[in-house]
Amino acid sequence: MEDTEMKTIRRTAVLLLMLAALLHASARERQNFDYDWRFILADSAVMAKPGYDDGHWRQLNVPHDWAIEGDFSAGNPSGAGGGALPGGVGWYRKTFSLIPSPSLKGEALFLEFDGVYMNSTVYVNGHKVGYRPYGYSSFEYDITPYVHEGDNVVAVRVDNSDQPNSRWYSGCGIYRHVWLTKVHPVHVKHWGTHVQTEMLMYKGDVLIDVELENPNGVKAQVRHSLLDRQGRVVARSKGLHSKMEVKRPFSWGIDHPYVYNVRTEVLVGGRVVDTYDTPTAFRRFCFDPETGFNLNGERIKLNGVCEHHDFGCLGAALSEDALHRKLTKLKAMGVNAIRSSHNPPAPELLSMCDTMGLIVMDESFDMWRRRKTQNDYARFFDEWHERDLADLVLRDRNHPCILMWSIGNEVLEQWSSAEADTLTLEQANLILNAGHDASTLAKEGELSVQSLLTRHLAEIVRRYDTSRPITAGCNEPSPNNHLFKSGAIDIIGFNYHHEWAKNVPKNFPDKPFIFSESVSALQTRGYYMMPSDKVYKAPKEWWLPYTDPTFMCSAYDNMHASWSSTHEEMWDVVKHNDFVGGQFIWTGFDYIGEPTPYGFPARSSYFGIIDLAGFPKDVYYMYQSEWTHDKPVLHLFPHWNWLPGQTIDLWCYYNQADEVELFVNGKSMGVRSKLNAPSGASSYHVAWRVQFEPGEIKAVSRKDGQVVAEQTIRTAGAPHHIRLSVDYAGRDLTFVNAEVVDDQGNLCPWADDQLFFTTDGGAQVVATDNGCQTSMELFTSPNRKAFFGKCMAVVRGKGKLKAQGYNLPSAEINL
Ligand code: GAL
Repeated sequence: MEDTEMKTIRRTAVLLLMLAALLHASARERQNFDYDWRFILADSAVMAKPGYDDGHWRQLNVPHDWAIEGDFSAGNPSGAGGGALPGGVGWYRKTFSLIPSPSLKGEALFLEFDGVYMNSTVYVNGHKVGYRPYGYSSFEYDITPYVHEGDNVVAVRVDNSDQPNSRWYSGCGIYRHVWLTKVHPVHVKHWGTHVQTEMLMYKGDVLIDVELENPNGVKAQVRHSLLDRQGRVVARSKGLHSKMEVKRPFSWGIDHPYVYNVRTEVLVGGRVVDTYDTPTAFRRFCFDPETGFNLNGERIKLNGVCEHHDFGCLGAALSEDALHRKLTKLKAMGVNAIRSSHNPPAPELLSMCDTMGLIVMDESFDMWRRRKTQNDYARFFDEWHERDLADLVLRDRNHPCILMWSIGNEVLEQWSSAEADTLTLEQANLILNAGHDASTLAKEGELSVQSLLTRHLAEIVRRYDTSRPITAGCNEPSPNNHLFKSGAIDIIGFNYHHEWAKNVPKNFPDKPFIFSESVSALQTRGYYMMPSDKVYKAPKEWWLPYTDPTFMCSAYDNMHASWSSTHEEMWDVVKHNDFVGGQFIWTGFDYIGEPTPYGFPARSSYFGIIDLAGFPKDVYYMYQSEWTHDKPVLHLFPHWNWLPGQTIDLWCYYNQADEVELFVNGKSMGVRSKLNAPSGASSYHVAWRVQFEPGEIKAVSRKDGQVVAEQTIRTAGAPHHIRLSVDYAGRDLTFVNAEVVDDQGNLCPWADDQLFFTTDGGAQVVATDNGCQTSMELFTSPNRKAFFGKCMAVVRGKGKLKAQGYNLPSAEINL
């Protein structure tokens, strides 16, 4: 018998046993429903039918993203803005057994999807149980009436054929987890708890509201216990609306994110029939018009980044390992806040931010009624916005990490007219930051339709949560922006427009302020445009095309889009203005799609501080030098492989030191200090302009004359071998970096060797990447060219990974 068949039989047996056990268990059972789906990229109504033979379909586990497996093509309807990857219609089917059917015992069975992109229709045994257009919403269906004893079939049709429908790469398919929940008929409703806390001097209050599903109105009791991190009960209460008190609770903060758990139990006839866990924490925060942001009595800046949901070469398919790797790298840079741009995130992102101490701006939409791309959510907005927004708040409101809601990003309702409906995807991406003339702004005394819509959306949020302020990412900084005019926005959020910041206290008296989005600098890791003190705008104006045969952008912090700024320029505004609560930089990681300033064959973004493969670009260390305090930072760049006599600009980011001295082959090139920088020069890096001569460069930072840190870069010789190292080891996936180095182990900064990855044992290469925005190599390919000396492979399972090149001997690493 085939291996896969055996596995299926084993898994089905396990499922059967588990379900049988469930029927005798007293409490809710929520089990992962990710395994053993069948998939096909085709479409026919008969695929919904339980008797349909799907034996020839591909077998896979979800989360799954079919688009990431495809070829890049200028002809794909998503366009370069959507990553130039395919869309289409796909079907998933899964057979599962129930003995006996839960309904025979009066129990209920729910099927829950964390996210399906997009337009999903779910059938159970041929019955349509629901349809959901928005690809980022989580949803649940009660499937009890449609299941029976024995084999049951779930079929899911996913339609991402109408493109473009997104300004970035969306992915296609069941790209988040699926869950099967069996419960007693009397149970806590889906997302049916609301836990709010208050931290007072020596105690914390916990307010708990619960909604029960109780179809027959039987007598039921509800009790709660508050568990600390060790699982010890520290407080108890009873009832649908109850309050607990905790003495001297631990607080939740960036450096000490203490999360408690409220365990709610439902009892019928003295027996526990449902158990439901809700995370909670104690923190005090406020946004102040004069002093910015304050957490637990301490003034801090929100040092945030915006993130799209993809995981580079792994696509949109949720992987906890890939997500944790992302957040770990950002946290190490000093990031303390994430904006889930521009849509509801995976639930796992919120759980990780809870426990890692990352603040979240939870965002709902990139558009309201006015569309930005031909087939985007605007076409569903009227019918679905209330449901989607309410579900976002209901699903997420108990997460301590969320400190604000965003009801939209750069929606075109900021203006009373906009040409959006006639734009191409590329134009839409660019026009967002173009100026609009004053006639499109709100008139004095008028409450426009757009302002009313803003109020309506804010009211939906406040219906379910009043404990957090509401913001929106606005790229119209005038107080006559229809959204601001509504009065419903609690925190004024500007996207870009840092030169308008000085007018904020005058234009928005009594309103706190943040940069909901900022920077949009453009960089290719490893590529440097000199002179480095010249700032390159690309494109010069939003309506002009930008071309450069290299398809690269400069990794000195000296290149940005026409509407934006360098990293340093922006950080200077945030750092030195007390009323600015912080910023969310566009973006932490590069993402697939929106390859501004280029078009195809560019297919992924240049905006990231970290490239698509996970390699930090140099500016990562600027932030680290400003935002972290644990260990000294010293980062000298670029590399030291140039033409003899070439004039080279060397930059250095540092902290915890007074000065840095640069040596070229032992000769001092001078001591530089950020503090004594001449006026107009950067206070965030030091620089030298030197003639290249092969050998070595060395930076030495000193404090009070004592050496704090040193860094040496040597001229690399010819590529000699491959160095493999583990970048991140997760539970399921290991991310391995491959560097092409010379015989002394120096990175060859220009190396672009084709590398071939193979595995032994149980390991399997699932994807590769090198951060190059124009690479046309399949993301799922085990072969990848080095890009400025580096690439990486994502490996599933344990075993040996080997890498070799045409002229490079095989290197190995045990995983
Ligand atoms: C903003 C927009 C982002 C992204 C960015 C690029 O206008 O909110 O989604 O397009 O520009 O600079």
